[in-house]
Amino acid sequence: MEITFLGHACLLIKTKECNLIVDPFISGNPLAKEVSVNSIKADYILLTHAHQDHILDAEAIAKNNNSTIVSNFEIVNYFQNKGINGHPMNHGGSWKFPFGTITYTTAIHTSSFPDGSYGGQPGGFVINTDHKTIYIAGDTALTYDMKLIPLRHQLDLAVLPIGDNFTMGIEDAIIASDFLNCSKILGYHYDTFGYIEIDHTKAISQFKEHQKELILLEIYNSLTI
Ligand code: NI
Ligand code: MN
Repeated sequence: MEITFLGHACLLIKTKECNLIVDPFISGNPLAKEVSVNSIKADYILLTHAHQDHILDAEAIAKNNNSTIVSNFEIVNYFQNKGINGHPMNHGGSWKFPFGTITYTTAIHTSSFPDGSYGGQPGGFVINTDHKTIYIAGDTALTYDMKLIPLRHQLDLAVLPIGDNFTMGIEDAIIASDFLNCSKILGYHYDTFGYIEIDHTKAISQFKEHQKELILLEIYNSLTI
């Protein structure tokens, strides 16, 4: 699969069968000015939780592409009321989609919509497709629940928030990668706002000191696993 970073916590994942977009926050991200929401092709939209910096462009992309939103029950319900297709899940559940299997995992965070309505409990995703398995943590603190993931899934890549303040920071992300038994980490949820700016060189060397690889992609750059 090919994973393209579109800024903040937004990823475009191309599998053999489908395009998936995760947590589209593009039109409100000053760092992602060169990305055009209307050019995005997505069969599925995966939403980890209901915060604005994760769902802002979901409705526009869904309407442009007739996409299906995959998220928790409350978020899917919210978008189905706007006429958008959805596949509801909840923590611990897995479902086989045409491109592979998704498991909705726990996250320690909050999940209200921008208008204050209830967005269910926040989560993350394990995605197994093209014989590769990745974990996208969503916005979360370091949590012992991460130790459960490698009992069932051998991860080729873990996508972890590293910006601190709203989520875990570098030091906890290094411990998370131990819990996940995965030493290849794609960092996200950093630099977008003043609260989450990081020193890239320092972050990469901190992971290296623990024999782990931290990948930080420029916007529009891709990683193939
Ligand atoms: Ni959030
Ligand atoms: Mn966020």
